Amino acid sequence: MISYPSFSASKYISSFIYLYFQKKIREINYFSQHIHMAKLIISCIIVLFFSVLFLFVELSNAATTYNVLSFGAVPNEQTDATQSFLNAWRAACSSVEATTIYVPKGRYLVGAATFRGPCKNRITVRIDGTLVAPSDYWVIGNSGYWLLFIQVNGISVIGGNLDAKGAAFWACRNSNNNCPVGARSITFNWANDVVVSGLLSINSQLTHLVINSCNNVMVRNVRIIAPDQSPNTDGIHVQSSTGVTITGSRIKTGDDCISIGPGTRNLWMEKILCGPGHGVSIGSLGRNYEEDGVQNVTLTYSIFTGSDNGLRIKSWARPSTSFVKNIYYRNIVMKYVDNPIIIDQNYCPNGQDCPGQTSGVKISQVTYKNIEGTSTTEVAMKFDCSPSNPCEGIQIQDIKLTHMNKKAKSFCKNVQGIKKGVILPDSCI
Ligand SMILES: *[C@@H]1O[C@H](CO)[C@@H](O)[C@H](O)[C@H]1NC(C)=O
Repeated sequence: MISYPSFSASKYISSFIYLYFQKKIREINYFSQHIHMAKLIISCIIVLFFSVLFLFVELSNAATTYNVLSFGAVPNEQTDATQSFLNAWRAACSSVEATTIYVPKGRYLVGAATFRGPCKNRITVRIDGTLVAPSDYWVIGNSGYWLLFIQVNGISVIGGNLDAKGAAFWACRNSNNNCPVGARSITFNWANDVVVSGLLSINSQLTHLVINSCNNVMVRNVRIIAPDQSPNTDGIHVQSSTGVTITGSRIKTGDDCISIGPGTRNLWMEKILCGPGHGVSIGSLGRNYEEDGVQNVTLTYSIFTGSDNGLRIKSWARPSTSFVKNIYYRNIVMKYVDNPIIIDQNYCPNGQDCPGQTSGVKISQVTYKNIEGTSTTEVAMKFDCSPSNPCEGIQIQDIKLTHMNKKAKSFCKNVQGIKKGVILPDSCI
């Protein structure tokens, strides 16, 4: 994604000049006339002029890299670099050329920062260093977001380590003290054409990476790490977004590896390693009455290791217009997962307004194909659907799940669907 200066055009021009000179010299030898000499000089001047112009345009292209060091950032983990990053952003965002913001190796102390668009052209943020949050968790915890990109079209974040130092914040929450709301580490809101590649995020206060109200997003080769008991540290949260791809990512965290919220469409997840964590979860949906649904979601070639759940769909037992449809789970391996396959429409913590304990969320057309491995609990496959909106079109095919070395069980309530191929545990559909 980095554009290095290319001198190909200038090279071309210079060899052209060289050939041109040779030809002219030959001409001079042949004719040795003054008139030719004058012509030669004039044409040389013209060629030289265009060649210099070319070189100038190319150099000005190459100059559109903004190094945060030249905006005063000091990579010593002590000096607050927030303003330097924001100033580099302002310069890049107002540039009419596509630009790169470059963060060299080193540890930068960065507080809450909002990178706002729309910008005049594409921006690539290339990070070889580590961004470290202040040790006082109130600094980023007060604003809800640590690094926030808003309304930026054409943004790529390449590389980079984010260390939100969340441990003190989790301790505060666990002790029920007066704590700030907490910060998501990196968030994209109302952004289109987004690439996040090669990012490492550790110990976020809340969710590590949030994709909210975005179109056309590619997340690849990211690594997410937080302890398995850290509260609400979801790995990646996708919501109100269309065309998100998450591929080749390793997520070890304290909450969902990937959580999928209302209004998610055309989500593709591939080669995900999840665990510890709460699995890949659609939901919780249907908390609100008016709520957009989730549709066309695929998860394939993924491995869950020691996670609480594998493939989970979860909804509140409350009235709602929300729905889940066209979901495809394929080629999944479960290693010591508590609930490998689970639909739970009974969610109602603290019994908050759940009349009749029934969910309005309609779940339909969910396919589970080629899923094998081990469940730490006896019920490896659980479909606990809504009495008022039964699950429909659930398709299971080639499932091989055991309760460690023993036979596992399946559980069905208010579910209709079909089965194909070998199904272990015995299907209740
Ligand atoms: C479903 O999503 C995929 C991307 O994950 C997309 O390629 C496909 O066109 C979508 N299908 C429909 C019917 O929208």
